[in-house]
Amino acid sequence: MMAGFEFSPVSKKEKYMDMPVIAQKAPYKEQLKAGRIYWWCACGLSSKQPFCDGSHKGSGISPVKVETPEAKEVYFCGCKNTKDSPYCDGTHKQLL
Ligand code: FES
Repeated sequence: MMAGFEFSPVSKKEKYMDMPVIAQKAPYKEQLKAGRIYWWCACGLSSKQPFCDGSHKGSGISPVKVETPEAKEVYFCGCKNTKDSPYCDGTHKQLL
């Protein structure tokens, strides 16, 4: 090891603490069923996009609860930068 240099690997979760990870730069079109509760992944770490799989634990970001009294089609944000969470507001078009 070089003197004065320390390499400290950080996990993806630590690196992006409090910052969402872009799951995809496009919305997820979903058909939601009536009378259900869904949890939208806000951190971008879930492997079950656009839904929460518990990966946010320790990230400082919490999933967003979506209740559906009636069945409906929605476009969930995939870039995790929307200002209208959990829904796409077009912000993904401005991301590099
Ligand atoms: S996918 Fe995030 S704003 Fe459209």
